[in-house]
Amino acid sequence: MSDNDNSAGLGSAPSSPKDVVSAEPLLRLDNVSKAFPVHSTSLFTRTREFVHAVDDVSLEVRPGETLGLVGETGCGKSTLARCIARLYDLTSGSVTFDGKDISHLSRREMRPLRREIQMIFQDPYGSLNPRRRVGSIIGDPFVIHGIDSRADRKKKVQDLMELVGLNPEHYNRFPAEFSGGQRQRIGTARALALRPRMVICDEPVSALDVSIQAQIINMLKDLQDDFGLTYIFISHDLSVVRHVSDRIAVMYLGRIVEVAPSSEIFERSRHPYTRALLSALPVADPDTADRRERIVLVGDIPSPTNPPSGCRFHTRCPKARPDCVQIEPVLEQVFDDGAEHLTACLHPLALDEDMALAKPQIEDSEILMAPTPGLETNTGGTP
Ligand SMILES: Nc1ncnc2c1ncn2[C@@H]1O[C@H](COP(=O)(O)OP(=O)(O)OP(=O)(O)O)[C@@H](O)[C@H]1O
Ligand code: SF4
Ligand SMILES: [Mg+2]
Repeated sequence: MSDNDNSAGLGSAPSSPKDVVSAEPLLRLDNVSKAFPVHSTSLFTRTREFVHAVDDVSLEVRPGETLGLVGETGCGKSTLARCIARLYDLTSGSVTFDGKDISHLSRREMRPLRREIQMIFQDPYGSLNPRRRVGSIIGDPFVIHGIDSRADRKKKVQDLMELVGLNPEHYNRFPAEFSGGQRQRIGTARALALRPRMVICDEPVSALDVSIQAQIINMLKDLQDDFGLTYIFISHDLSVVRHVSDRIAVMYLGRIVEVAPSSEIFERSRHPYTRALLSALPVADPDTADRRERIVLVGDIPSPTNPPSGCRFHTRCPKARPDCVQIEPVLEQVFDDGAEHLTACLHPLALDEDMALAKPQIEDSEILMAPTPGLETNTGGTP
């Protein structure tokens, strides 16, 4: 079947993720950073600072796989997603998609690539224009890219609606006439309209009831199997990510602190932050729940405007030692982990180590803040 014959406009599936583990990455990030300038003003000073939302992130995503991206609120997940989709310009680093460096492409040059990299957003209420009919919302990409006549478009939109489990006869309804889960299906149909190769799902189920979450996740998995999609699946919830991801990257304060195959993250995590996130997951079996170490992280996430020196997690880490304040750990293989399992920690956890027993070996006075690169202060200027 040719692409044009495909009713929903989607191509045929490439091989499964398992077949493509050794394939060239579809996406490669090299040292990607994104800093937002912010101004704080007082009576006598005007200070320009930067929010270091994403800092020096390097990652690869292979064709057909799902990379889960997890971390607490504000750690930079959405900013990284938007850098990948080039909705934001990068501050530094590069994004390579299908072998092509797309970091510096203009809006016009990016246009053909917008068909290949799509996003599904968290809020199925806010991301759909309430005054437009669902048929035209889903058909927008065809109009924007000048594809197909009006009649063809209606058929393709209805095929897409069917594909994501919506009734095609509801083509003329408004978003308010759909439930939260159905609206997320509308967003998915729109994202799939132009046969993307990569879909970045940014908290696609966080706003939904738990029962509906499973339906949407199953739909996304089925679509991936049918069309060989590559996903980046973002969530602050590890229990959601574990069901969909082949590999998981854990983010803390703008950095990736651990990346590994999904099972390794759950069974052999090395980074204290990952272990703390895991310890917060609910466990169905009460015996396991009783035995499991519970780790309560002290303190709030530090400000990304002035991140801590050395390891950024040292202000909250139960295993922090004096060198953690000075030395910035890099992502690397630790202990006997395989090449796929990388951890950024100077004192990674052994598999049988009980982190609940660990005590930080640094004094409060040793908790340093790094000088913020690019901090500009004008004293005496106009407020
Ligand atoms: N446009 C912006 N201007 C200034 N700061 C921003 C901007 N966008 C994001 N930030 C800041 O960058 C940091 C990372 O934000 P981001 O939205 O990427 O986090 P997140 O991990 O997606 O969080 P959440 O789980 O809440 O969605 C936060 O401190 C946020 O306040
Ligand atoms: S480097 Fe030190 S502070 Fe950072 S996670 Fe490892 S032990 Fe904790
Ligand atoms: Mg976000």
